[in-house]
Amino acid sequence: MLIRAIDAINQDEQHVPGRPKSLEPGFSTLSVHAGEQRQKPINSITDPIVCASTYTFQDTQAVIDYIEQDQDRGEYGRYGNPGEQVVERKLAALEGAEEAILYSSGMAAMVGLLTAKLSAGDEVIFFDECYHRSRQFCTQHLSRFGVVTRTVKTGDYRAMEAAINSNTKMLISESPTNPHLSIVDLEQFAAIGKRHRVDTLIDATLATPFNVRPIEFGVDFVMHSATKYFGGHNDLLAGVVAGSKQKLAEVRDLRGILGSVNSAHNVYLLERGLKTFELRMQRHNENGQRVAEFLENHPAVSRVLYPGLRSHRDHQLAQQTMRGFGGLITFELDQADWRQTAQVVDRVQVARIAPSLGGVESLIEQPLVMSYYHYPPAERAKFGISDNMIRLACGIENSQDLIDDLAQALARVDRT
Ligand SMILES: Cc1ncc(COP(=O)(O)O)c(C=O)c1O
Repeated sequence: MLIRAIDAINQDEQHVPGRPKSLEPGFSTLSVHAGEQRQKPINSITDPIVCASTYTFQDTQAVIDYIEQDQDRGEYGRYGNPGEQVVERKLAALEGAEEAILYSSGMAAMVGLLTAKLSAGDEVIFFDECYHRSRQFCTQHLSRFGVVTRTVKTGDYRAMEAAINSNTKMLISESPTNPHLSIVDLEQFAAIGKRHRVDTLIDATLATPFNVRPIEFGVDFVMHSATKYFGGHNDLLAGVVAGSKQKLAEVRDLRGILGSVNSAHNVYLLERGLKTFELRMQRHNENGQRVAEFLENHPAVSRVLYPGLRSHRDHQLAQQTMRGFGGLITFELDQADWRQTAQVVDRVQVARIAPSLGGVESLIEQPLVMSYYHYPPAERAKFGISDNMIRLACGIENSQDLIDDLAQALARVDRT
């Protein structure tokens, strides 16, 4: 029964309305099997790594048939490779989307989507906590081509609606946001877009479809840095945009021109990482919750931002709409300056100092130093980045080890 359901998904029938829930495969079953042929070349259980920049035709008639019959086969590597198609189908199934398009990084996905959808004179509106490189692409680069970017406070739905005019083409937010972990009311966000016939885009990198599936709330496009939880092992870069076939058609066409595709080896690593996606997410969620609770009760910590905590501004919304809250925690030290904060980061031994998140290894960083070093203090304050802020991306190590390690690092906050 379940295998029939996966076969149906693999034949693009995942959106049969009203299919009984009992026929919906579970998350791990999808992660392991969706998108793959049951019987693979040379009877291998794994997909082959196809290192080909081009794909051959038997003769000229085969080329003509391919063009005239719109055959489903490869032609040239810039349009993708067979492994990429498997992962795209797998991610579409996990996301509950008709289609997913893979890119060579999360930013390539964002750039690919926005350049396909926006033209001179168009406007986009961001919630202000959205990933800073996404905003930067719009304000510094799309602006050169006549696209206007507006920004409103995260969660201010009235301000977002008020900023819409006849040129507005897209509303963009991250949820949860990074590093503040604000949660967007996806239903409200999608409804504003629908009321004004404006597309909506959620960067759900921090949530993943295991924790929330924005398309189910009516959002048009979901993007992820697949570098994070999808890959899951801090060993690859990739990105994905998911949505309806119709809305993504021109996006895929442009990717074929840009060529921001994945190498065969990269996509194999991504497919392999996805096999354990649910198991890893369960552990990330568990570690995030336990470590956040520990930090909240620690006397050296003045504030913890984690949607799973009752003290979080969006806790209720998060509880209503999400299955779990991921591994990312942002916290502030009590009465510590940037140097004292850096000392705590340096004393941590299990988590390694690095940007990124979502991999098996825990990572820790001080946003002031890692991402905002060149920003003047007033600019940092505008983005809510404080001197005493630490961002911890919990990996899948044992939570007690992460807690014991943080306890020793926090025990000696130097107040001299
Ligand atoms: C929320 C979010 N979106 C997008 C990106 C960009 O992804 P990538 O680094 O894969 O280009 C990142 C990367 O840090 C991110 O954290």
